[in-house]
Amino acid sequence: MNKKILITGGAGFIGSHVVRLFVNKYPDYRIFNLDALTYAGNLENIRDIQNAPNYTFIKGNIKDIDFINSLFQKHRFDAVIHLAAESHVDRSITHPNDFIETNVLGTANLLNAFRDTWKDNFKGKLFYHVSTDEVYGSLGKTGLFVETTSYDPQSPYAASKASSDHLVRSYGNTYGLPFVISNCSNNYGANQFPEKLIPLFIHNIKNNKALPVYGDGNYTRDWLYVIDHAIAIDEIFHKGENEETYNIGGFNEWTNLNLIHLLCELMDDRLHREKGTSAKLITFVKDRAGHDRRYAIDANKLNKELGWKPTVTFEEGLAKTLDWYLENEEWLKNVTTGSYQEYYKKMYGNK
Ligand code: NAD
Ligand code: TYD
Repeated sequence: MNKKILITGGAGFIGSHVVRLFVNKYPDYRIFNLDALTYAGNLENIRDIQNAPNYTFIKGNIKDIDFINSLFQKHRFDAVIHLAAESHVDRSITHPNDFIETNVLGTANLLNAFRDTWKDNFKGKLFYHVSTDEVYGSLGKTGLFVETTSYDPQSPYAASKASSDHLVRSYGNTYGLPFVISNCSNNYGANQFPEKLIPLFIHNIKNNKALPVYGDGNYTRDWLYVIDHAIAIDEIFHKGENEETYNIGGFNEWTNLNLIHLLCELMDDRLHREKGTSAKLITFVKDRAGHDRRYAIDANKLNKELGWKPTVTFEEGLAKTLDWYLENEEWLKNVTTGSYQEYYKKMYGNK
């Protein structure tokens, strides 16, 4: 088979789990992991597969048109699984242009290079775009996002992802470029950068630091274990219909406050602290600007058409996640001090 697959953002949180799954499960595929190693990219996340014979890491930026064009000319990738993105809503509020440049222009660069590589002969080729449920905006107390829900992005992050989704669909319509898109709910699990809710709060509880709850804390998110997201991407990549969109979610809604109390209880138990100790760290802070009240995904299309469903319960997934963060203190220390950049230099020189 020897399919050449470019996975972008494979040193990040979700990308590293996707790269690992593809490298281990498909020895006949050649997996190229393209990542700029921004603050969120960390080669330690995929240290275990770095010497696999079907794996190549390429350091590079999807914003760099000439680099992207020459990369595609050189390797003629049969498929792209595109995860590279600026991904944190709070950063998009302070630095929106970074999101427009990477998420919109970077995606356009990949689409153009993929189109120019295969021109009209797209048989057997696929551009898989990984997106978020945040493109749909905010739900009221009831209802779920389905694939036909109108886009209504509310943050610069969501708007940049919505733009990239639209671009991908427009290339399908205009140039016949084969694509699939998936829109997933909030992920949690090992290797998530500790600026997102769950890893940040684990880190802070452990270090007896305040737990900053935005607004009244009654915001709702639907949480999915990251490995179940990677499994869904594998299913959609191989069995998804051309030009289709699939929503991926955990059927698992939590208000932030309920989730934070659960985290506190589980951490008290693991750290042998008296019950209620960690919850004392909860501190209500100023709300996020334009904060979306509720996200919830209806993932029944993916379940009915491709047979996917989460393999891990929230209880199991959270337990694995907490244990991973507690056992990988060094990883946390490195990403919070930036010393993993040293690891890259040691491994790859200045390539
Ligand atoms: P992440 O921030 O952990 O990782 C992003 C990766 O992309 C990093 O390795 C980073 O170095 C790389 N990157 C960033 N800018 C780049 C550029 N210009 N060129 C090349 N590489 C670049 O993000 P994540 O949480 O793993 O999210 C991955 C994808 O999944 C994103 O597209 C995101 O929108 C989507 N998504 C995330 C979630 C979630 O809960 N985290 C949910 C649904 C969808
Ligand atoms: P986050 O993990 O940033 O994901 P997203 O904004 O993409 O859903 O945040 C999850 C929820 O937790 C969201 O409602 C914002 C809230 N939150 C806090 O209350 N405090 C925090 O310090 C963070 C990072 C998030």
